[in-house]
Formats: sequence, structure tokens, C-alpha cells
Amino acid sequence: MRNMVSTFVPGLEGLVERALPQQVPGATVLRVMSGLIQYRLGGKGTLPEIPFVNNTFACLATFPKAKGNPVDMMVQRVCQFGGNEEALRLLPPKASSFRLVCMVQGELVSVPSRQMEAAENAITAAFGLVSNRARPDVEFWINYRKEGIGYFLLRVTRHGDFQKTLKRGELRPDLAALLCLLSGPSRNDRVLDPFCGRGAILRARTHWPSRSIMGGDRSDAVLQDAARIPGVQVRLWDAADLTEVADGSVDAVITDPPWGVFEKIEDLYGFYSKIMREMRRVVTGEGRGVFLLPRDKEVDRAVATLWRVVERYPVLVSGRKAQVVLALPQ
Ligand SMILES: C[S@@+](CC[C@H](N)C(=O)[O-])C[C@H]1O[C@@H](n2cnc3c(N)ncnc32)[C@H](O)[C@@H]1O
Repeated sequence: MRNMVSTFVPGLEGLVERALPQQVPGATVLRVMSGLIQYRLGGKGTLPEIPFVNNTFACLATFPKAKGNPVDMMVQRVCQFGGNEEALRLLPPKASSFRLVCMVQGELVSVPSRQMEAAENAITAAFGLVSNRARPDVEFWINYRKEGIGYFLLRVTRHGDFQKTLKRGELRPDLAALLCLLSGPSRNDRVLDPFCGRGAILRARTHWPSRSIMGGDRSDAVLQDAARIPGVQVRLWDAADLTEVADGSVDAVITDPPWGVFEKIEDLYGFYSKIMREMRRVVTGEGRGVFLLPRDKEVDRAVATLWRVVERYPVLVSGRKAQVVLALPQ
């Protein structure tokens, strides 16, 4: 199957469009929409791991703009789907069951049961799988987008739903990887995350070669998870005072500092001024800072005293307005 679709954190389209052909050699980008990229695999059609995307799907069919109800139109098309040899090869060897998921404009929608059964029967006929809505081996999605295009997809990623698998406060691995990507990872990088928590950014950074990866946090409880990541060093510290990190000894600071939401920060400007100064001190003159921040004027003001923001991407994190910032030392 060469026609693929991957989803990612909306807001970072430009970054993903640039990075995908590097991560998947030979791939050609066909279409980029909010949080979705469609591409054609080149060469032998093999798909490497793409750490900065959420789900990846084989694209079985696309649907044109619906004149009436998009669910009716898509379900009818699925009922006419005759199968696909290449897609059959993508099924895990022991897969015997499936679920059909229907989404319209990012929301799960229910399909009237007669229509649903007809679509499920068509999938059974095409793929030899039985419907199991509770515990399926594979998922088919019909997904109609606000841009007026629909997709019939076979999900090929196997990870669970991040909302269910992540621990409290832990950053999504695909967003952590996007932050690392924005730092322009180089094999000579000495990388630091001074607010590493359970280590999502440190773990994501291990997807690319580096000279060293270090993280720290003031909570011993969360650091224990980060300490288990192979190839990273962790420290218990207050990130406003990184005395054990020498001046100009870090090439990339990539971090997700607290926003004052779970734990109140009385003086957001004061707190951010201190941590921005410390991070500025430890990076080299050519270093880079990648920060996941709240959208807040006081935070922006604190960043701007010592850093020059060169790229800024608005994103939503757990429904909250946030921004991803690439900054260079002033
Ligand atoms: C938004 S969370 C980072 C989560 C992390 N990216 C992860 O995936 O687990 C912010 C982290 O900063 C830590 N923290 C808050 N204030 C700190 C301080 N002054 N020094 C060091 N760590 C601090 C918290 O314990 C928390 O783990």
C-alpha cells in the first residue's frame, strides 16, 4: 500500500510537511491539512517508524465533497468497496476481527445500525475479518474532514489511545518528537530538558543521534520514570538554579515548563524570567531553545528578554491554548 495518511498535532503542518520526506525516504507529500498529511511511499513502499505522528493509515479510498449527509455517502461507498490486495498484506498475520470507526470533522459519529451492518459486511467480504466492536484486532476508519474530503482508511499504527495510556502531566510522544524535530536535531547535540517530568522529550530525542541527553525535575517521583530511559542522564534539581550545568555547555534546550495550571505560579513573569535566564546561560551562542508554552503575554515578555523567537506555532494541548516556540539566544 503506497497511499498513506498520518495524523499529527494540528498547528505544526509546516514542520511535518518539511520533515516527512526526510523521515520516510522517497515519500512524496500529496496533501497537508490541519493535523493530517497524505503521502505516497516511494521505493519498495516500506514504512519506517515516524515518531512525530500520532496514527498512520493506509488510504483505501478518498471520497469527494458530499452533497448531502457525508456519513450516508461514505457508508454507501464502503459498501461498494471490492477489496485491495495490497491492503490485505498490511493486516497483522493473526488479525481476525475489525471495528469500523466513523468520524466527521474530528468527532466520532454513530451510524444507523442497518447502514453500519451493511458496511461491516462489505469489509468482511473484502478482508475476511469479522466485526468485533469491543476488542478488534484492526480498525477501519471513515473520516470526513471539514475541508470537504473523506477518507476510507485502515489503521496501521498499533499504539493505544494516548489519552488512556499516558500518566498525569506526561507529554504526548508525538508532540515531544515534534519539539525535538523543531530543534533541528544533530548528532553533535548536547540536549537538555530542565523540566523533564517523566521524560517524554528525553525519550523522543533518542530517536535521533546525539552526543548527550540530560534531564532534570524537582519531583523525585516523576524522575524515576525518566531515569529508566536508556541513554539519558537525569538530575533532581530546581530548574531556576542549574548550577551543575556549565555556562555554554548545551546545544539544544527542549522543554515543557509548568504553566501554572496544575500548581499555581503566583508571578508567572518572574518565574519565566528566571528559568529563561538559566536556560540562556547554559546554551552555546549558536544553541537553540524549543519551548512548549502557554499563550500568555507575560510569558512572551519573559522569553523576549533573552531569546529571539524565530518560529511560533499555536497548538492545543489537552484542550488548552499553547504555543510551540523555536528561539535563538539574543
Ligand atoms: C509540564 S510538566 C513536564 C512534563 C514532561 N514533559 C513529561 O512528559 O512528563 C512540568 C514539570 O516541571 C516540574 N517542575 C515544576 N517546577 C519546577 C522547578 N522549579 N524545577 C524543576 N522542575 C520543576 C514538574 O515537577 C513537572 O514534572
